[in-house]
This record gives sequence, C-alpha cells and structure tokens, in this order.
Amino acid sequence: MLDGAVVVGIKNGWRGLIEDDTEVLTRQSVTGILPRGGTILGTSRVNPEDDASIGHIKANWDKHNLNALIVIGGEGTLRAARDMWRDHQYPVVGIPKTIDNDLCGTDFTFGFDTAISVVTDAVDRLHSTAESHHRAMVVEVMGRHAGWIAAYGGIAGGADVILVPERPFRLSKVCEILRRRESQGRPFSVIVVAEYAQPHPEEDFLTPEQRTEIYQHGRLGGISFYLAREIERCTGIQARVTNLGYVQRGGSPTAFDRVLATRFGIKAVEMVAAGEWGQMVALRGTSVIGVPLDEAVNNIKYLDDEIYRVAEVFFG
Ligand code: F6P
Repeated sequence: MLDGAVVVGIKNGWRGLIEDDTEVLTRQSVTGILPRGGTILGTSRVNPEDDASIGHIKANWDKHNLNALIVIGGEGTLRAARDMWRDHQYPVVGIPKTIDNDLCGTDFTFGFDTAISVVTDAVDRLHSTAESHHRAMVVEVMGRHAGWIAAYGGIAGGADVILVPERPFRLSKVCEILRRRESQGRPFSVIVVAEYAQPHPEEDFLTPEQRTEIYQHGRLGGISFYLAREIERCTGIQARVTNLGYVQRGGSPTAFDRVLATRFGIKAVEMVAAGEWGQMVALRGTSVIGVPLDEAVNNIKYLDDEIYRVAEVFFG
C-alpha cells in the first residue's frame, strides 16, 4: 500500500497548508506517539474561506508535489475538505476526529471515548463529595450543539440528572427529582449539564444578557452557574459547580480511541491508494467503511433519542 510514499505532515490544520508550515513525517519521527493526547501536528480554527487562501493552498500543493490530502478533524475542517473536493477537485479523504461525536455518517469519532472517560471519572469523584456534604453537584461538560458527551459520561458515571441541548429542560422537574431524592434519604445528587443545554421557554430563568454570554459568545459555557443558583433557590439544597472544560480534551487516549484511530488511518491510506476521493472513513457497527464527506458534514449528528431514554430511566 503506497510503498515509498513520502508523508508530509501539515501543521495546524488548513492553516499549515495556507502558510506552508509542514514537516516530513518519518517512522522515526512518529515513533511513540500512540499514547500521546492532543495532536502532534497542532490545530487551528482556520479554514480556506477566500480566493487568497485557496491560491496559497494551490501554490504549496504544487511546491510539495502532493498527490492526496488526508484531512483529520471535526465538522468545520471536514466541511472545508468537502468543499476543496467538490469545488476545486482536490483529491481528499477525511478522518472524523472530535470529542463531540457530532459528525453524521459514523457511529463514533475518535476522541469521544477519551473525553467520556474523563467525565465518568469526574462524576464518580463528585458523587463521593456530594454524598459526604449533602450537596447537589452540577457538572458542565462540552459537546457543542449535541449531548453525546453529557449522555454517555452521565450514564457511565450514574448521574442523577442529565441535561442535553436536544431536550430543553424544566427547572421544576430537576428540582422535583432532587427533592424526591432528599425525602428518600438521599440529600445529594450529581447533575450533568451539556454546555449548550437550555431551559424550556416556559421556565426560562436566564436574562437575555446571560443567554448571550452562555450561548452566543463564540465560546460556549456558563449554564452550570445559573442552574446551580436556581437549584439552591428552589430546593434549599446547597449546590456547587464543576466546569470540566478543557481537561476533557487532553490526556492519554483510551484503548478504544487508539484502536479506532489506527483503523481509521489504515482505511484512509487504502482509500488514497484506490483513489476514493471526497469520502470520509467511518465506523458503522463494527466495520470501518467509506462514506461521502457530504453526508458527514451536511447536518449535525444529534444525540440518539434512544440513548437519552436509557439515561432517563435512572433519573432520581
Ligand atoms: O469541538 C470541540 C470542542 O471541544 C467543543 O466541545 C467546545 O465547545 C469547543 O471545542 C471549545 O472550543 P475552543 O477550543 O475554541 O474554546
């Protein structure tokens, strides 16, 4: 498979191809990266959006005499890959990598399993301190517009309430669950809330300014503080906040993510060898296949309703 090929690593995503920031990857230079978290090549939020950047990409592509581009990333990065194939016929193959697991076409993206293992560990630890101090612990997790991290991390950690963007929540319901637990001799709870989870319009407790700060600030986050305040006000139970933030995106990958990323990598190289452009590698069931990039980036993959119903069985 592609014997003798030179592999050029592009630093910081599309920015590296625009700015010609590259490094040849050899067996020696990639030895030992398997247990490392993050990305050794770096990342950026830069995508080729105008004629000037597309012009730079063409010049650098020719300079390095590239034959194919394997693009590893989430929705924004892969959408740009789709556009470069569809609009400019660059031979690209995509690999889905995001902790959010919100890409269509694949059951899982790599990074997600590692993130939920961090959430699970945190929820376990917070249960101990919630119980000792008789408190409600509100844990905010990432995931952008989808509730995958909250649902999987919450189920695995045995959270008492899980709030996700797909289901606007009623504060009255949350407080009812907490009060019921208290009356049953369990005056402690762990509430996992996704960064984009929102109160139901009929029970909205956020001012327009708070709403902007939490959801439209460019950077999501902050709902946990307002939720904890309201829980304390409604139930009289002391509430505390833990925003897990960027710890979810670091650390050594889990075995599942290492295997998935390795399988994705091999499949991507096979697709390059076969000239299967404009595709993304994907996990479907237990098989790794190719799917059109278009399918992956056209919509957000929201949390499966069936998973949320499983979580709900254990609320309270
Ligand atoms: O897309 C991954 C993600 O970690 C989201 O879950 C989170 O909202 C966002 O990135 C944070 O982005 P930034 O690193 O730009 O603050």
